[in-house]
Amino acid sequence: MKEEKYDMVVIGSGIAGLFYAIQCAAFSKVLIVTKGNIGESNTMYAQGGIAAVMNDKDSIESHVADTLQAGDGMCDRSAVELIAKNARQAISDLVNLHVHFNKTETGDFDLHREGGHSRARIVHHADATGKEVETRLVDAVRHHPNITILENHFVVDLIVENNTCLGVQILHPGSSTQLNYYPKLTMLATGGAGQIYAHNTNPSIATGDGFAMAYRAGACMMDMEFVQFHPTTLYSQNAKDTFLITEAVRGFGAELKNKAGETFMETYHPMKSLAPRDIVTRAIVNEMANTGEPCVYLDLRNFDTAEIQKHFPNIYARCREEGLNLRTDMIPVTPAAHYMCGGIKTDVYARTSINNLYACGECAGTGVHGANRLASNSLLEGLVFATTAAADAKKIVESDKLSETLPVFNEGKTDTRKSGSLIYQSMKVYLQNLMWNNAGIIRTQTGLEYCLEELEEIKTVILSEIEQYGISQQAVELLNMVDCSQMVAHSALQRKESRGCHYRSDYPNKFGEANHTFMQGAIKNTQVF
Ligand code: FAD
Ligand code: SIN
Repeated sequence: MKEEKYDMVVIGSGIAGLFYAIQCAAFSKVLIVTKGNIGESNTMYAQGGIAAVMNDKDSIESHVADTLQAGDGMCDRSAVELIAKNARQAISDLVNLHVHFNKTETGDFDLHREGGHSRARIVHHADATGKEVETRLVDAVRHHPNITILENHFVVDLIVENNTCLGVQILHPGSSTQLNYYPKLTMLATGGAGQIYAHNTNPSIATGDGFAMAYRAGACMMDMEFVQFHPTTLYSQNAKDTFLITEAVRGFGAELKNKAGETFMETYHPMKSLAPRDIVTRAIVNEMANTGEPCVYLDLRNFDTAEIQKHFPNIYARCREEGLNLRTDMIPVTPAAHYMCGGIKTDVYARTSINNLYACGECAGTGVHGANRLASNSLLEGLVFATTAAADAKKIVESDKLSETLPVFNEGKTDTRKSGSLIYQSMKVYLQNLMWNNAGIIRTQTGLEYCLEELEEIKTVILSEIEQYGISQQAVELLNMVDCSQMVAHSALQRKESRGCHYRSDYPNKFGEANHTFMQGAIKNTQVF
């Protein structure tokens, strides 16, 4: 391991962390710390694409209006305008980093349409946009002389004193060593927390570490109850993973139907299958309850197979693997947890309430998404706020007021038991089902209160295991999942209304006025080290 001084530590290697690192490397030395292989991230699995106004048939005003509409009265208009105005530049920056997007025969960007968008404005790379973006950004950071990458290194906690972030505590893999870095600035780009739910679209890394670390450090958290459930993941009794069927499939023309082949979305929203996600998700849950079926269907049977294959090659292939013939079979789909709309409260430069700590991407609460994120605005938000954060960081690094030191190695107690892994695995499954059943798509006061009681029990067990046997990545990830779940359930209990993707069957109406929920220091502090 290099013993070097770094101006920046970036935690996370998805779109937000990598794009920020690339820009900061122009004026500083950057260390990227990531807990898995560098490419493993939510970004890698993004399908649909990036929302951007790319031609005169569309307008910034329309993109802003659609985002505000989906956000159900809770978006910060200035943050929304910022991403909409900078989207075209962000796409051009990605193209300069060799990201390839699909074009039409006339050389224009091929634009898909997704739910809640009044126009086709999704720039994409077939149905695997995230993989293309992540791969090119990884190439760029790997070849940059000012960027060092620590893969398979797990950040356990932030080092914070007097509301100032001094650095990060890292668990050194395969040893009992903890490694502390003290950069000038720290960026949290740790992504989402989909893993707190039994059914989710996220990879296993999405355990909400950044939310939990920031919260333990005293950062202000905003609107954590707004968990977005994607309406259409492939329903399969055999599959080991959850596979998304991008909204762009509905934008392409596929309609949602019940088993009898009847459409139903017209009874829920004038935009039918292309209504905002929260509405489609609840409509599907309702249909499933009415019919007693475990799924509904997407119908592509009347579409040209060659066109389907051209636009959605991965989805087409996966459906074939599942034995589905799209000429004769409809695709069975069901909702799953997908995205955290709230997060660590940040300003327009991605600054958190803790000095020298930024947050960007899915872990940040920028105010862009309000109560429900508009499709394909997440990758865009990561790009735009990484850029404003890098501009802010440049001023701070160049003013050179902050100190930097060499890394410090500490001996710590680490848990090497094989049985530990089984205990944590069974507690994780219990937590995921608890959250799905009590803090999921439809919530009630009774369910949320029960959930909070159980979470406290789980936390007590984890903390006592840690105290007795020491820490491990698995233990801390589970603790982070508990912290995130508590934040979601606490905020959901506080919000006695139904708005956006937060639905309370005991409070089905919306208040006249939209208010944010904030949390700061409400959960008992659990210092991990
Ligand atoms: P991520 O890409 O999730 O990266 C987080 C990084 O942090 C990872 O590298 C992880 O290993 C690292 N990390 C986390 N905790 C630690 C720790 N303790 N120590 C060290 N490293 C850590 N959005 C769109 O806009 N358009 C789409 O088409 C789209 N499709 C999607 C499809 C799927 C299946 C999914 C799951 C999401 C999709 N989204 C889409 C949402 C979007 O992909 C994510 O919100 C976005 O990629 C988040 O980027 P990020 O950089 O914030 O985090
Ligand atoms: C999708 O492709 O449907 C996901 C897009 C998103 O989450 O923004």
